[in-house]
Amino acid sequence: MRLELTLLVDGEAVTAVLDRPGESLLRTLRERLGRTGAKNACEQGECGSCTVLLDGEAVVSCLVATAQCEGREVRTVAGAVPGEVREAFAACGAVQCGFCTPGLLVSVADLLGRNPDPADAEIREALAGNLCRCTGYEKIIEAVHRAATARTAENTHTGAPGTRPLPPSPSPEKDPTLPHGCDSVMTEGRT
Ligand code: FES
Ligand code: FES
Repeated sequence: MRLELTLLVDGEAVTAVLDRPGESLLRTLRERLGRTGAKNACEQGECGSCTVLLDGEAVVSCLVATAQCEGREVRTVAGAVPGEVREAFAACGAVQCGFCTPGLLVSVADLLGRNPDPADAEIREALAGNLCRCTGYEKIIEAVHRAATARTAENTHTGAPGTRPLPPSPSPEKDPTLPHGCDSVMTEGRT
């Protein structure tokens, strides 16, 4: 059975042709559309590496059937993460490995879209589905606070509200604020 559908991925309308109706959004993004920002680390909904925003909500894309995504908006780490979040991760040393960092960034973007000034416990709860057993979460929590402060300052300056939606930022490849080496991890990581 052949299934053709259109998605809006990181702001771009794309067509995916599936030969298996049960194919996951993660596989479609990575293997058919070349959008490798979502990582495949467990493919069982356990690790959060494949987190994307689907119509603005954080989901683990390995558990979403692409067939359910006709006409829907998908944002990977390349299109979901505001500049303040990327800058804060870089500044705080919160950029870890290429598997966990993309999903963490998307989850943080989702959190700050819902809660512009989260407490530590709220951050830990929001990131509970993004697993890293190698390092720790302290620098990430520090980065979330830094990003929240930066967004609040910006919104105060512009008069914009601090809740959803968070506007996507320019591509980090073009972002001069990022230290050398951080840009690839925060968009594509390791493929
Ligand atoms: S790859 Fe989807 S949760 Fe681990
Ligand atoms: S899984 Fe990425 S640093 Fe532990």
